[in-house]
Amino acid sequence: MIEIKNLSKIYNTNYGEFKALEDINITINDGDIFGIIGMSGAGKSTLLRCINLLEKPSSGHVVIDGQDITGFAGSQLLQLRRNIGMVFQRFNLLMQRTVKDNVAFPLEICGVPKADRDKRVAELLELVGLADKANNYPVQLSGGQQQRVAIARALANNPGIILCDEPTSALDSLTTSSLLQLLKEINEKLGVTIVIITHEMSVVNKICNRVAVINDARIIEQGVTKEVFSNPQHEMTKLLLSDLIVVKGGEN
Ligand SMILES: Nc1ncnc2c1ncn2[C@@H]1O[C@H](COP(=O)(O)OP(=O)(O)OP(=O)(O)O)[C@@H](O)[C@H]1O
Ligand SMILES: [Mg+2]
Repeated sequence: MIEIKNLSKIYNTNYGEFKALEDINITINDGDIFGIIGMSGAGKSTLLRCINLLEKPSSGHVVIDGQDITGFAGSQLLQLRRNIGMVFQRFNLLMQRTVKDNVAFPLEICGVPKADRDKRVAELLELVGLADKANNYPVQLSGGQQQRVAIARALANNPGIILCDEPTSALDSLTTSSLLQLLKEINEKLGVTIVIITHEMSVVNKICNRVAVINDARIIEQGVTKEVFSNPQHEMTKLLLSDLIVVKGGEN
């Protein structure tokens, strides 16, 4: 379980202090696929990055499985990051390395012996459906395939949590659907908790059991996706959802 408690984040800029997150309270249960939605600049990436301390919260706490991780540093922080995989919009693969060497990278860093690495990489590539691309370079793959490699890499150390920052925003809608299917499979088969930022309401509708709406540094609404989507309370949520209604209209 991930508990975010009274969390705020202030950036120091040339123009003074900028409050990117204000008094955030969220609980993400084990096994959730938890969506975070909001307009550009609302604070979504900052919030996600506070969960694995890529950003240091200015105040408040992040508690994972009952342990307050907010002050973690050194080996504790390394251990924490091993338990939290991350997937980005632009895939962030190492372009000079083959697919299998990209997936092996986090295992190399942890000092996993080569034979064990090879075995794990083969399993992971099988899981994401890219066993036949092991020796290709990222540039030889489609965007959807590159994101599958990034997902395999994020899973290398058997994390309990995966954080995804706009994982499908660079992909077309069919590729998005198959990638969401993969994330759902990973969630169901491996029991990985997934936190996913997206600006696409259809993504939340398809795979997130719960959702939080962030606006101007604050959570304005959160709950079970079906309930929030069928009865949005806040004007901003309604505005974000108008996108989904258009998509639905187009399909019918
Ligand atoms: N390192 C930083 N220094 C100063 N301000 C920052 C920094 N990172 C983000 N911000 C500001 O904090 C606010 C929230 O940024 P964040 O990247 O979390 O938004 P976001 O919701 O992910 O937006 P987008 O949908 O465009 O990715 C923005 O106004 C941004 O300019
Ligand atoms: Mg962002």
